[in-house]
Amino acid sequence: MGNITLTMIKPTAIKKNYAGNIIEKITDAGFRIQAIKMMRLSKAEAEKFYEVHKERPFYGELTDFMSSVPIIAAVLEKKNAVEDYRKLIGATNPENAEEGTIRKLYATNIQENAVHGSDSDENAEIEVSFFFSKKERFNADGSLI
Ligand code: CMP
Repeated sequence: MGNITLTMIKPTAIKKNYAGNIIEKITDAGFRIQAIKMMRLSKAEAEKFYEVHKERPFYGELTDFMSSVPIIAAVLEKKNAVEDYRKLIGATNPENAEEGTIRKLYATNIQENAVHGSDSDENAEIEVSFFFSKKERFNADGSLI
């Protein structure tokens, strides 16, 4: 069981100024932020990040959306991080998300679903490395990971 996951706060949630509320939900649920940054993905970077979905009909729209305005990416640490974070954010489609989950509270629709969360420990490692170097990730005492 891994202890990290990668999240992104997606463009619509940033535009609606929900970032603070979302980060509060994350830390209230017991996740510690190892690393965080706001950045605008290029179309090519969004395509690379979502490469596993490249055959899906929504790939073009999704990568346009993800590169439309800045996102916030963060590495979250907690025991059983991937699974616990997926519970906290709720189903991909906010219509199916449980009450109180981040997507139920802050998503607009299935594409603009407020946040991303890694779906496995293996993908968490890949996604974390996509955004962050070792010099950008910190332990609670301030030392580098
Ligand atoms: P995320 O958890 O970031 O992983 C893949 C993303 O693709 C997903 O959230 C949604 O933003 C998007 N997505 C998944 N299914 C659909 C769909 N049916 N239509 C549009 N976008 C989708």
